[in-house]
Amino acid sequence: MATVLITGTSRGIGLEFVRQYAQDGWHVIACCRHPATAENLNRLAAQYPGHIRIYALDVASHQQIDRLASSLANETIDLLINNAGIYPPSDDGGFGSIDYAAWIQTLQINTMAPLKMAEAFVNQISSSNLKTITTITSKMGSIADNQRGGSYIYRSSKAAVNMVAKSLAIDLRPHGIISVLLHPGWVKTDMGGRDALISTEQSVTGMRRVLSRITLADSGKFIAYDGQLIPW
Ligand SMILES: NC(=O)c1ccc[n+]([C@@H]2O[C@H](COP(=O)([O-])OP(=O)(O)OC[C@H]3O[C@@H](n4cnc5c(N)ncnc54)[C@H](OP(=O)(O)O)[C@@H]3O)[C@@H](O)[C@H]2O)c1
Repeated sequence: MATVLITGTSRGIGLEFVRQYAQDGWHVIACCRHPATAENLNRLAAQYPGHIRIYALDVASHQQIDRLASSLANETIDLLINNAGIYPPSDDGGFGSIDYAAWIQTLQINTMAPLKMAEAFVNQISSSNLKTITTITSKMGSIADNQRGGSYIYRSSKAAVNMVAKSLAIDLRPHGIISVLLHPGWVKTDMGGRDALISTEQSVTGMRRVLSRITLADSGKFIAYDGQLIPW
C-alpha cells in the first residue's frame, strides 16, 4: 500500500486528507505542529490503527524538516502533500497597512517550506512508485484571475509557490517525479470561513480524484479540485 506524507494535519483540509487516505488503507505520515493537542488527529489515529503515524513538524523550521527527513530516511513516500498554510488576518488591512513581518512569516510557511520539504524528502519520493509532490496553492495566487486586488501577502505567497512548483516539475522530471499545484476550492475551514462554498470532504474527494489520474505529462500544471485547469 502507498504512503502519503501530509503537512498541517491538525485541522481543516490536511485533517481530511489524513481521514480519506487512511480510510482507503494508505499509510499516512501525518505532520502537525503540536501532536499532543491535535485531538481530532489523535482520534483518527485511534480509529485507523496501524495506518496513521503522527510527527511533530513546524514547516517554518528547516531544522525540524531535516531532522524528520533523517528519521524517515529508510521510508518510501509515494505522495508528499504540502498542505500547511496561513492567511495572516492583518492581510485584510490592505494597501497602506501592510504587515511586513507577517509577510515574511507567510512566505516562510506558504512558499519556502514546500521547496524545503521537496529538497529534504526527494530520496524517499524518488524511490517510491507514485513519485508525486503536490502543493496546495490557491486561485488567489493566480495573476490572471485577480479581479479584486488586496490580500497582498497571501496572494504573493501563493503566486510565488506556483513558480516554485513549476520549477520543481522541470528540475525533478529526470527523476520521474511529478510536481502539481492544486487549488482546493473555497472550503469551509478556519481559513475559508463559514461562507465558503464546499466542505473539506468535497474538496479533498475532488483533489484525490485529480491526483489519482495524473501522470508525468501533467507535471507543472495548476489544477482545481474539480479537475479544471487554472490560468496562471
Ligand atoms: N480554506 C480555503 O478556502 C482554502 C482556499 C485555497 C487554498 N487553501 C489552502 O489550503 C491549505 C489548508 O488550508 P485550510 O483551509 O485547511 O486552513 P486551516 O484550517 O487554517 O488549517 C491550516 C493548517 O496548517 C497548519 N499550519 C499553519 N502553520 C503551520 C506551520 N508553521 N507548520 C506546520 N503546520 C502549520 C495549521 O496547524 P495549527 O493547527 O498548528 O495552526 C493547520 O493544520 C493552505 O495551504 C491554504 O492556503 C485553503
